[in-house]
Amino acid sequence: MSVSTAAADRTAPCATAASAPLPVLGRDVTVPLVTGGEVTYAALDYAASAPALQRVWDDVAAYAPYYGSVHRGAGYLSQLSTDLFENARRTVGEFLDCRDGDEVVFTRSTTDSLNLLAAALPADCQVFVFETEHHASLLPWQDARVTYLDAPRTPGEAVATLERALAERDPQGPALVCVTGASNVTGELWPVRELAAAAHAHGARIVLDAAQLAPHHPVSVRELDLDWVAFSGHKLYAPFGSGVLAGRFDWLREADPYLAGGGASRTVSRRTDGGVDVEWHESAARHEAGSPNVIGAYAVASACKALTEAGFDALVAREQHLVDTVRRGLAEVPEVRVLSLFGDDAPRVGVISFVVEGWNSSHFAAALSAEYGIGVRDGLFCAHPLLRTLLGSDPQAQGECGAPEAAPGEKSLNAVRVSFGAGTPDEHVERFLRAVKELVTNGASWTYRTENGRCVPAA
Ligand code: ALA
Repeated sequence: MSVSTAAADRTAPCATAASAPLPVLGRDVTVPLVTGGEVTYAALDYAASAPALQRVWDDVAAYAPYYGSVHRGAGYLSQLSTDLFENARRTVGEFLDCRDGDEVVFTRSTTDSLNLLAAALPADCQVFVFETEHHASLLPWQDARVTYLDAPRTPGEAVATLERALAERDPQGPALVCVTGASNVTGELWPVRELAAAAHAHGARIVLDAAQLAPHHPVSVRELDLDWVAFSGHKLYAPFGSGVLAGRFDWLREADPYLAGGGASRTVSRRTDGGVDVEWHESAARHEAGSPNVIGAYAVASACKALTEAGFDALVAREQHLVDTVRRGLAEVPEVRVLSLFGDDAPRVGVISFVVEGWNSSHFAAALSAEYGIGVRDGLFCAHPLLRTLLGSDPQAQGECGAPEAAPGEKSLNAVRVSFGAGTPDEHVERFLRAVKELVTNGASWTYRTENGRCVPAA
């Protein structure tokens, strides 16, 4: 059945050229300022969750009346929804430039994708992961033989560190390298192609955490020679609860289903001894038990199409202009220290973390929100070991909201992160830079207190 009979298959090209921000939901939302009046909200926390593309929202709204069960209904709308779900899988596979034989598994998020892969590791698999990863890629491997690699200070050192570790491994057994494409803290790009080559030269496989890369750059499984790639819909302008794990299926085919239940099973029968025999699917469905999130998958596919049609060359060029503007602006404020692992010249996406001398980062972020209508993130960004390395703080230090302000010369225990992407207008980063300069020069206009671990304006 073709879904072209339904409004759900809208393929209207994205009307807006990428030299302007892509239309996103919430661009006209106003928020109150503690100092009086209202201002349009400046969403500068894309690295946590990006706003939905208007195109994604429109596609989802057009499909919603046609919503039906997937892989389990005889009715027209169930058939249509099943087609849509499987077409979404193909669209994501094309977006990632997957190879023949690769599978796209729909998950809930990057975290879910990497936990799925961790649950599918062959026996005795060794895992290599840098301590600089965010927790979604740092933590799922606890049940495997995991080696945590020290933070490298250049991309070349990252490759050399990995090569050294792999050279010492048991060459007979299976091994996996897990690495991020772009840091959720510094925005810096990792040398993915070189790390993949090193992994393969030593008989290991590699999974790319593309949570922060895929929304900003094209990712080609084929060209980068990746075994798997994982990303989240909610960071890719499609916040409807779907994520993706794409790549080789052999380990996943051999593994027990991630969840046991309907959808993952082909046949189930009672044995004569009273037990139950199950024949599991040997495709992506094996790891998608339960009713699939068709709206989430459709939204991810819609975002993939929208970004592709807008053109990554134009999207990257526009975002780099914003990155340069923010970095130049912050460099003019001597009290601001931008956090970086690989140095000033490292290529990066629109994710920038910094500390401000004399300020607790939670206080600074609260003032940006309450006095300027700017939403950023503060804290340790679910990447505690990396933050403590970058801040030079005690590995056990607790740097969440409520910590005392770092006096001049003292080490901050947490940081502020500003992040942006395809929907960000210039005005948002201009307002952000003005706010940083005013806060550093004049101090906050309001007083703040800690409530439930967060800094909030005192009433
Ligand atoms: N990794 C996400 C972030 O950096 C949660 O905000």
